[in-house]
Amino acid sequence: MELRACLIGFGKVGRSFASLLIKNKKILEKINVEFKVVCIYTRKYRLFNDKGIELDKAIFSLDNLGERFDDINDIMATKNIDFLMDFSVSSFTNGEPGYSLIKCALNNGINVITVSKAPLALHFRELIELAKKRNKILRYQGTVMSGTPAVNLKEILPSLVVDKIRGILNGTTNFILTKMEEGFTFEDALFEAKKLGYAEEDPSIDIKGIDSAAKLVILANTYFDENYSLENVKISGIESISKGQVDEATKNKSRIKLIASAEKDNLIVQPKMLKDDDIFFNIIGINNCVEFDTQYGRILLSGPGAGALNTAYGAFSDLILSIKQIFNR
Ligand SMILES: NC(=O)c1ccc[n+]([C@@H]2O[C@H](COP(=O)([O-])OP(=O)(O)OC[C@H]3O[C@@H](n4cnc5c(N)ncnc54)[C@H](OP(=O)(O)O)[C@@H]3O)[C@@H](O)[C@H]2O)c1
Repeated sequence: MELRACLIGFGKVGRSFASLLIKNKKILEKINVEFKVVCIYTRKYRLFNDKGIELDKAIFSLDNLGERFDDINDIMATKNIDFLMDFSVSSFTNGEPGYSLIKCALNNGINVITVSKAPLALHFRELIELAKKRNKILRYQGTVMSGTPAVNLKEILPSLVVDKIRGILNGTTNFILTKMEEGFTFEDALFEAKKLGYAEEDPSIDIKGIDSAAKLVILANTYFDENYSLENVKISGIESISKGQVDEATKNKSRIKLIASAEKDNLIVQPKMLKDDDIFFNIIGINNCVEFDTQYGRILLSGPGAGALNTAYGAFSDLILSIKQIFNR
C-alpha cells in the first residue's frame, strides 16, 4: 500500500524525520507500507515530485528534486495526499501557518501529524472536532516532550481520570538553569542551547514560559477533555532569574525549575524553588518530566523533552500508530 505525504517545514526536525524514514524503511515494509514524501513546503522551497522526493538527497539540499508549485492548498486538494506532516514553526499570535494548513488538510480528507504547538495551543478543540467530523487522524505527540510519550500515554490508560498535571515541560529553560548551576551566565547558557539546536527559532518563546504554557494547554486539553487556550494560563518565565538566585538555591540544597501545573481551570507556569526531596529535583538538562495525579495514584514519566531527533521520533511513532489505526494492524 502506497501512502503519500506532504511535509511542511524541513528544518532540524523535518530533516531528522526524513532520516528516520530512511533508517526505518524496513519497519514500514513489514506493515506493507511504501511511504512516499511527494511534497516538501518551506518558506524557501515548494517542491512536488509525484514519484516521491529522494530523501537521502533532500537531507542535504532540496535543489532539483522536483517541480515548483504555487499553492499548497491546491496540492492538498488534487494530489492524493494521505498525510500532512507539520514540522513548521507557527506563530503563537495566530497559530499560522499551521492552523490553516491543518484545517485545509483535514477538510481535504488528509490525516495530520504535527509537532508544532501553536495551532493546538490556540485552537485545540476546533481542530480535534474537525478531525472527528472528517473522520481523519490528528496526532501530536511531538508537541509535548518530543518522543517521550506524554500525549500518547493516554491511549493505553482507558477510563483514567487525571485531576492534576505537573511538569517540567521545556528542555531549553531546564538546560539553561542546569548550566547556570554549573557556573554559566544566562547568556552563555542560552548560546549553548541555541548551538545544540534545543532553543526555539525565537528563544524568548522558551524563556518567557510560552512554550511550557503551550504544552500545558495541550496536555490539559488532552487529559481533562477541555477547551483551554494559551490565554487561560498564568505565565512567568525565567528571564529575570539571576545567577545569584541560582547560586543561593544551590547553597540551600534547592534548585530553581520552571514548573507547569494544571488543575481544573487553574493553569500556571512559573519558576519554583524545589527542595532535594522533590521528584523533579534531579530532572536536569534537556530532560523533561510530567506527573499525572489520577484516581489510582501518581504516574510519573520522564525523558528527553527537546532535540530534533527526539521530536522527529515523536512524529514517527505517531505515523506508525496512525497506520496501525487506519489498517487495523
Ligand atoms: N528542535 C526541537 O528540539 C523541537 C522540539 C519540539 C518541537 N519542535 C517543533 O518542531 C517544529 C520545527 O522545529 P525545528 O527545530 O525543525 O525548526 P527549524 O529548524 O527552524 O525549521 C523550521 C522549518 O519550518 C519552515 N517554516 C517556517 N515558517 C514557515 C512558513 N510560514 N511556511 C512554511 N514553512 C515554514 C522553515 O522554512 P525554511 O527552511 O525555508 O526557513 C523550516 O524549514 C517547530 O514547530 C518546533 O516548535 C522542535
